[in-house]
Amino acid sequence: MSAVLLFFSIVFVLPLAIHGDLRVGFYQETCPLAEAITRGTIFAAAVLNPGIVPGLVRLHFHDCFVRGCDASILLDSPTEREGDTAEKDSPFNGASLRGLEVLDEIKAQLEIACPGTVSCADILAFAARDAASFAGIPNYEVPSGRLDGRISLADEVPHNLPMPFYNLSTLANLFASKGLSLEDLVVLSGAHSIGRAHCPSFHYRLYHFSPTQPQDPSLDPSYANYLKSICPPTVKPLDESPAVPLDAISSTMMPNTFYVALTQHKGLLGTDQVLMSSMPTRKMVRRFAHNPFLWPNMFADAMVKVGRLTTNEPGEVRKYCRSING
Ligand code: HEM
Ligand SMILES: *[C@@H]1O[C@H](CO)[C@@H](O)[C@H](O)[C@H]1NC(C)=O
Repeated sequence: MSAVLLFFSIVFVLPLAIHGDLRVGFYQETCPLAEAITRGTIFAAAVLNPGIVPGLVRLHFHDCFVRGCDASILLDSPTEREGDTAEKDSPFNGASLRGLEVLDEIKAQLEIACPGTVSCADILAFAARDAASFAGIPNYEVPSGRLDGRISLADEVPHNLPMPFYNLSTLANLFASKGLSLEDLVVLSGAHSIGRAHCPSFHYRLYHFSPTQPQDPSLDPSYANYLKSICPPTVKPLDESPAVPLDAISSTMMPNTFYVALTQHKGLLGTDQVLMSSMPTRKMVRRFAHNPFLWPNMFADAMVKVGRLTTNEPGEVRKYCRSING
């Protein structure tokens, strides 16, 4: 097993470092309204289309885990090198991404207010913070000063983003390769307090979990029946499949229902439920389940940590978030 993991980390997982040069208020002189414009646009858009809220939190995570937080997730195919398929067109991103249009809208406004100044990577980091804050996470400060990358490769997605069927050691190793701890993994998984997943993301848990057990035994049977009533045995492509909330309980009053659901075997994704399968992670889940207001602040801190991932590749401030500068 360690040979396999070693192989993965050397060959596929890009070395990421925690960036020390970012600072809060980076645009204070050059574009003082950058964060206010972003926040205003996010809040206005979220009222009309609440789906962008989970969408943006997820986009920032998907950006930072592949090549660091460089807005590589926002580039359209084909990218710089002829024929390159961009990250966003990887089957693991593809149809499930939400919130891209609102970022275009913010970028257009900031190009008028202060041309060529605010990077798309920073806009995404601010937007994810504002989305989280719209969803009830304490408002946290986002260190900024990121540059936008010029490379985005679909092939780099599968081994840098976690897949929902990963076991705990594979998950923990992937997070460790990004400088994130087991606690960060448990805390960040709480992002699944908001948003949804489509049937293909958890279908195997209902119908072909293992040769001896078609249904995942760690799944509450009545919850499984409910999921089966929505997801038929035949899988369809993600964009033709129904979606269900990632948090089986979800309440506007309680921020920690995602963790309560895990203690009741009602984690929707395999990777969420698997947090109950080891002593240290189970302890953390129970702690968040018992103290409703412990998790939100820890999530804010963990998001700042994710936002510091970088490859230290040369970058630029894009004019348009979907393409590199000419
Ligand atoms: C720990 C490993 C993780 C795995 C395996 C994972 C996997 C997934 C999958 C499969 C979906 C549903 C896609 C679909 O069917 O449409 C999803 C949705 C989501 N993920 Fe994760 N994720 C992980 C961690 C995270 C982290 C760290 C964050 C953010 C900090 C995050 C934020 C989200 C959000 C907000 C959604 C809902 C998106 C929407 O409703 O548009 N996830 N994730
Ligand atoms: C986790 O998955 C990896 C990769 O599929 C495998 O090598 C490893 O044996 C699994 N670990 C456990 C504890 O099941």
